[in-house]
Amino acid sequence: MHTGTPTTRILYGAPVFILVFASPDVIDERDCALAAENMMLAARSLGIGSCWIGLAAGLGNDTEFLKEVGVPGGHKLIAPLIFGYPAKENQKAPARNTDVVLKWIN
Ligand SMILES: Cc1cc2nc3c(=O)[nH]c(=O)nc-3n(C[C@H](O)[C@H](O)[C@H](O)COP(=O)(O)O)c2cc1C
Repeated sequence: MHTGTPTTRILYGAPVFILVFASPDVIDERDCALAAENMMLAARSLGIGSCWIGLAAGLGNDTEFLKEVGVPGGHKLIAPLIFGYPAKENQKAPARNTDVVLKWIN
């Protein structure tokens, strides 16, 4: 976990930046995505906002960065996540498109 003060815009100035990596012996990398989602949901339950930052995926290939933060070799970056208290509370998700076709399969 890197808890410095990221200044780049893609991290929205969030105070916490967590990178979820898959170790080389992981059986299914999708478990890492599920763990990341669980972290985001748990944070939400504590009033903490989060966002998956796909734009930071390149850090997983930045050997200098990986060495600096102490990531062992062979690990694969799955989920770069930012966390922080939302600037605005009670933000509602935008309304879904009503013209999206939804078909229930029984
Ligand atoms: C794989 C992935 C990568 C994402 N990358 C970014 C990103 O780089 N920057 C960003 O602001 N949001 C990013 N998001 C968040 C999405 O833009 C969006 O806010 C989120 O998926 C919730 O969307 P919804 O409320 O429309 O379902 C990413 C989401 C996912 C699943």
